[in-house]
Amino acid sequence: MKQIIIEGNKPLSGTIKIGGAKNSVVALIPAAILSSGKVKITNVPSISDCDALFEILHLLNVNVEMQENVVLMDSKDLKNALIPENLSNKLRASYYFMGALLAKFKKVEMYFPGGCNIGSRPIDLHLKGFEALGAKIKKTKSKYTITAEELKGADIYLEFASVGATINIMIAATLAKGTTVIHNAAREAEIVNIAELLNNMGAKISGAGSDEITIKGVKKLHNAEVKVIPDRIEAGTYIIMGALLGNNLVIEGMVPEHNIVLLNKLQEMGVDFKLDNQRIILNRAKKLKPTNVRTVTYPGFPTDLGQPMSVLLTQADGISMFEETIWENRMGHVKYLNMMGANIVAERQHATITGPTKLHGEEITATDLRAGAALVAAGLIADGTTIIHDVEHILRGYERIINKLSDVGANIKIVDI
Ligand code: UD1
Repeated sequence: MKQIIIEGNKPLSGTIKIGGAKNSVVALIPAAILSSGKVKITNVPSISDCDALFEILHLLNVNVEMQENVVLMDSKDLKNALIPENLSNKLRASYYFMGALLAKFKKVEMYFPGGCNIGSRPIDLHLKGFEALGAKIKKTKSKYTITAEELKGADIYLEFASVGATINIMIAATLAKGTTVIHNAAREAEIVNIAELLNNMGAKISGAGSDEITIKGVKKLHNAEVKVIPDRIEAGTYIIMGALLGNNLVIEGMVPEHNIVLLNKLQEMGVDFKLDNQRIILNRAKKLKPTNVRTVTYPGFPTDLGQPMSVLLTQADGISMFEETIWENRMGHVKYLNMMGANIVAERQHATITGPTKLHGEEITATDLRAGAALVAAGLIADGTTIIHDVEHILRGYERIINKLSDVGANIKIVDI
């Protein structure tokens, strides 16, 4: 068990370099096993979700070599093994092995996936997609068995533009016979990155990044290379921290267009920032205006930045509204922010935040990954010492967060307890 300890109120100066996107790499790695050859993935972030995926690859007999942020995978001896429950439980994205193993072996058996406790997180849309491609699904108390004589291209209409379902169906359809069209597909930047890898491997996918993706099935996939796109959520989190505490804080290696909605909101609030190519330079503003934030699917305001953003709203002068529309359970951090001195009234998926409120250090708990990032932001602006428990959630998705923040002046450490 680990704890993060922060002595707050230190200005942040210097440069934070953004790593590869968690939500991209956790799909790129499973997608890469479709190749009969070798796949090189660069800009791989050093996060514990990747470690869990490497353990899964090992079980599936995939040869994995790692050097710094480069991963080389060779799936020529891939075997179809049941991933143990304690492993598939470690991260949500283990479900991408469903689509990949189904495509390769026409059969996959898998325990229910894990992941953050931010809502009920069904996978019915993934399963309906597999069924549309010709698969049969058997569900028992703890696992799914999915089989298909052959996978055949189909027209698939998603009821909701689910990121996971879009990617999983895209992966499964890559080796199907004929053409698949995913209608109402999710449009996240990460989906474009996954399609890029699959196309580099020889797949025929067009339309990724729009709400209609067409996948013409191919028989076999070959050697390929891909670079993980910069993590827009990591970038957004540090941008918010820079708005709170920046003293010429530079966020480098991001794609500003992927965070355009966040940047527009910050501008509206009067945050002092300057865009300079692929960098953003932030300074703490004297006064912040309140605003309303409503999380929606990409390219709208990302749900994964809602919680960190709520910390910024505690520092705005007036009443802000925060509405979460994607997940039912994303207010877990509010109780802790209020303990620290915030004035937030939250009910289900809505919160009214009255600011500005001075925060003070407390002993608090990260209830999920992004709640954890929000609490780190709160600890950074609080007077005194903040101790955060259950920080394993944070390490799942923020690479070297302690080093990145201490390098720019934060007084933050992680300890084993
Ligand atoms: C991904 C991201 C997560 C982000 C989310 C929304 C990864 C690894 N995780 O999660 O960080 O918060 O997108 O941007 O990429 N739903 C269904 N049935 C399904 C699938 C989803 O009803 O079969 C619902 C969910 O309950 C939720 C909504 O759709 O309310 C969004 O889910 P989805 O887009 O699938 O999120 P994930 O891919 O799980």
